[in-house]
Amino acid sequence: MKSDPVLDLRHIAIIMDGNGRWARKRGLPRIKGHNAAERSIHDAVEVCGEIGVEYLTLFAFSTENWSRPKAEVSFIMKLLSRFIKGNVDELHRKNVKIRTTGRLSDIPSGPRKDLESAMERTSGNTGLNLILALSYGGRAELRDAFAGIASAIVSGAFQADDISEEMISSHLYNPDVPDPEVVIRTSGEQRLSNFLLWQSAYSELVFTPVLWPDFHAEQLRECLDEYRSRKRRFGGVE
Ligand code: IPE
Ligand code: IPE
Ligand code: MG
Repeated sequence: MKSDPVLDLRHIAIIMDGNGRWARKRGLPRIKGHNAAERSIHDAVEVCGEIGVEYLTLFAFSTENWSRPKAEVSFIMKLLSRFIKGNVDELHRKNVKIRTTGRLSDIPSGPRKDLESAMERTSGNTGLNLILALSYGGRAELRDAFAGIASAIVSGAFQADDISEEMISSHLYNPDVPDPEVVIRTSGEQRLSNFLLWQSAYSELVFTPVLWPDFHAEQLRECLDEYRSRKRRFGGVE
């Protein structure tokens, strides 16, 4: 699949935030907001397919989200299984390759196995790479990369002086994935919350007040228009 020629866009990353507030506004328990998130995910996949983006990373659960009440965490983990099982056929039909980033070993075995089988089943697909960030933290990822580099140094494979930015990138969880050109966050919060810290060094950040369950194809297209209006300079001059 080719990158979008108009937007020059290969990788969109989204912080899907605001499920709890969406539910609260309706007098519903927070978990209903997580339930309502599914359609927005469908829409994001659809739009990425239409414009020919190669990678869509969705921040679904952070390393910090484990500190939430047990009942909410366990609901989200069950929802993850349900989402995978309920959508794998359609995603496979759409030629989507399901992938993850994060510490998958933290995920309970039930949903982890569902994920692994969905990844296996879609591994040969050549369309959109749908990357679910699960138990993902940018600092945890960097810590793991540094640990990998440190052991290579200890084993004598190379010296500290050989460390380059490219080498650090190549020790991240998915070294083949290009940095996102744009990071979108819903719900009005304007922070990264430990998402893709290394990879977002030069990403355009687009913040929208829309809560994730209300974020559909139209809202995503608006965020991409905003991205398109930006001048990317990378420290240079126009
Ligand atoms: C995002 O919605 C989903 C996860 C972080 C798992 P939130 O649950 O953070 O919703 P708000 O921010 O409390 O509204
Ligand atoms: C970021 O949202 C994580 C995900 C969307 C998965 P949070 O709701 O956890 O972030 P904070 O707590 O507002 O920074
Ligand atoms: Mg939140």
